[in-house]
Amino acid sequence: MTRMIIEGGRRLEGRVRVSGAKNAVLPILAASTLASSGLSTIDDVPDLLDVAHMMDTVAAIGATVRRANGSVRINAESIWSTEPPYDLVRRMRASFVVAGPLLSRFGTATIALPGGCNIGPRPVDLHIKGFEAMGATASIDSGAVRLQAPKEGLHGARIYLDIPSVGATQNIMMAACLANGQTIIENAAKEPENVDLANYLNAMGAHVRGAGTDTIRIDGVKSMHGANHTVIPDRIEAGTFLLAGAVIGNGVYVENAVSEHIMSLIAKLEEAGAKIEDHVSGIRVWPVERGRLRNLDVKTHYYPAYPTDLQAQMVAGLTTAFGTSTISETVFENRFMHVAELQRMGAEIHIEGRTAIINGTERLSGATVTATDLRAGAALVIAGLMAEGQTEVLGLHHIDRGYDNLVGKLQSLGARIRRVDDDDEGTARALLKRTGSM
Ligand code: UD1
Repeated sequence: MTRMIIEGGRRLEGRVRVSGAKNAVLPILAASTLASSGLSTIDDVPDLLDVAHMMDTVAAIGATVRRANGSVRINAESIWSTEPPYDLVRRMRASFVVAGPLLSRFGTATIALPGGCNIGPRPVDLHIKGFEAMGATASIDSGAVRLQAPKEGLHGARIYLDIPSVGATQNIMMAACLANGQTIIENAAKEPENVDLANYLNAMGAHVRGAGTDTIRIDGVKSMHGANHTVIPDRIEAGTFLLAGAVIGNGVYVENAVSEHIMSLIAKLEEAGAKIEDHVSGIRVWPVERGRLRNLDVKTHYYPAYPTDLQAQMVAGLTTAFGTSTISETVFENRFMHVAELQRMGAEIHIEGRTAIINGTERLSGATVTATDLRAGAALVIAGLMAEGQTEVLGLHHIDRGYDNLVGKLQSLGARIRRVDDDDEGTARALLKRTGSM
């Protein structure tokens, strides 16, 4: 089993560069399948498990996908299947965003339905309602949704989303690209990743206007082609480093972080006493007094409000805050799995409904803890860096889904953190024994 071992208490200092955004590159890779001609080159693609899954999914339906030096080249002319293998789709919920582009270009798509996940049920009803409004029929068969456009192709429609779902906005936006006529998405998600997707779609020949606002207009075009695109920096990774820098830093420069994408976090960190400097190429954070935040009340919501993907990390940061803090989770139902693990490190937290109430303690103590999902894993790493003594984090596959080289980046900031594979340890012990050094 692979574990992360952290010796806590070491202050982070220096520069760290944020990678391309996971949540932008996933729909962008899916969108690349809309091109019936030409090559797409996507730059600044992070090295993540989720990205590898999406590349495999696109390759499995016939596209040529090559990765080299942080870029991915895709030729989607040769796609021959509209049914990505179940085994690939089930590994990652976000794979469902291949539905929109395939339906739009080929008039049909069969995609395994994503199940629930550790952070609660995550239905796709809004995606499907959107496709139906554009003339598609949807039927569920053996755990997959079979989508079929009318003979003449999808048509434009006015679609109001009950919830500004990130994934539904992406899927409908992509389905509308090759539809006949205009599609208007109202109450659309405004996340920067959706703006990035729209920019790539437009570079491919689509006509998407209004991404980043709550009304997106898409005028269908006849065909799309490959295009070059550089992915925006990952605001959640940036926020994770800023939070760590505020509680256990000594001046951390987060290169590539875009302040406009994380205004809500910056406002909260400043309210809690951290000093933030916004520079052209990144953000510097200076630590709060004695590494203890002032107490905060935080509520997660859709962009531009405080992101649910930075909730767990903020809970970790507030465990040693002065006074009592509250964090309300309004986006997902069951996103407090990290709380039980943080309690094992001495945190005083209790949950009331969808709110975590955190009584700040002076310090955390190291323990063996398990990541239950991606951002919960990041929270445990922050807690481990803050804690006295040694912390072991298990469940690293969750962290590998969304943080590119987290250990290496933290090491470059001076953290005492390493990955250990039990097999490697066993081999090292055997070698030491043989050479008599143990
Ligand atoms: C995306 C992000 C994820 C982030 C989330 C919210 C990716 C790959 N993932 O996930 O990291 O935490 O946005 O910012 O970009 N909902 C429905 N019906 C639907 C779709 C969604 O009820 O058809 C609900 C969900 O259960 C959830 C809420 O809407 O409660 C928001 O979900 P959504 O914005 O769709 O999140 P994802 O796109 O899955």
